[in-house]
Amino acid sequence: MKGLEVLSTGYAKINHILDNQQLEKMVDTSDEWIVSRTGIKKRHISCKNSVDLAIEAAKEAIKNIDQSKIGLIVCATMTPANRMPSNACLIQAGLNLNEQDMMCFDISAACSGFVYAMTIVNSLLKTMDDRYALIIGSEQLSSIIDYQDRNTCILFGDGAGAMVVKNSQHAFYSYQNSAGNQEVLSAKNDPQDYFLKMKGQEVFKFAIKVIPESIDQVLNQAGLTLDDIDYVICHQANYRIIKHVYKKYRCPSDKFYMNLDEYGNTSAASIPLALATMNEKGLIKKGMKLILVGFGGGLTWGATLIEW
Ligand SMILES: CC(C)(COP(=O)(O)OP(=O)(O)OC[C@H]1O[C@@H](n2cnc3c(N)ncnc32)[C@H](O)[C@@H]1OP(=O)(O)O)[C@@H](O)C(=O)NCCC(=O)NCCS
Repeated sequence: MKGLEVLSTGYAKINHILDNQQLEKMVDTSDEWIVSRTGIKKRHISCKNSVDLAIEAAKEAIKNIDQSKIGLIVCATMTPANRMPSNACLIQAGLNLNEQDMMCFDISAACSGFVYAMTIVNSLLKTMDDRYALIIGSEQLSSIIDYQDRNTCILFGDGAGAMVVKNSQHAFYSYQNSAGNQEVLSAKNDPQDYFLKMKGQEVFKFAIKVIPESIDQVLNQAGLTLDDIDYVICHQANYRIIKHVYKKYRCPSDKFYMNLDEYGNTSAASIPLALATMNEKGLIKKGMKLILVGFGGGLTWGATLIEW
């Protein structure tokens, strides 16, 4: 199946760190508990909203490309700056891309948002000749976290990652699924019940079921095995979830990239942030095959198999 070529990546650099030692002073928890249950050591917290974080990531991604070719901006987020206009329209304005033929919209699919966005962009770009798309995952999760709730505040951080893509003959396989459910994970618009709520153990069981399901789906479509894949980049929720998956496949742990010790769970930003930091480190080379796996609120889940 025809897919996307990734032209560039970028991410927002957030200086303010909230580490486990600081959380020990805020709630009844410990560094040892958090690291052993999640693998997370710190998270980045920003006073910028998800539009400003996205613009920072996007500016880095578009700096060396022909910006006049961008015809589509899609922002995956569950912490949009406004109900309207969309983050994507405000990103367009922030990047001074108003004077060109453009479609801009947001995707709300929680931690699966970036994977959903890639599939939508791949379809849409096929109708847009040689235009480029800017895909962004951006979250200011600190705005919906209760820092008195030790069940959730230890997990989440802020972040944004961006990617510019164009049509190509590269491999592209995708699988998405969802199951309407607000009992397990939710963050409502209700001022009386505003903060993110989570049933941790149920999310854990959900994740270790749907990640292999999603990986198997795209591998089967492609007629490949995990041996053919250079990296699997799962949504960065929890080290134990990812470990469970690579053990199930009897696969070396370094095939499953992780940066959650540094960033925590940044929801829709976690996969593009991982890709941008891997790209910056030179870990991803042309022709490599990657599987990206998202899962989270909705419930939503899915994967894309891409060729870099
Ligand atoms: C949240 C999570 C780390 C909790 O780990 P767990 O092993 O399931 O822990 P439990 O919820 O069973 O709680 C065990 C005990 O630790 C306590 N606890 C919960 N959070 C704690 C914290 N931050 N620090 C210390 N103790 C904590 C609980 O109150 C409970 O105490 P009790 O035994 O006295 O009742 C784990 O369930 C998880 O990672 N789930 C997936 C979450 C996720 O990825 N969400 C985002 C998906 S997109």
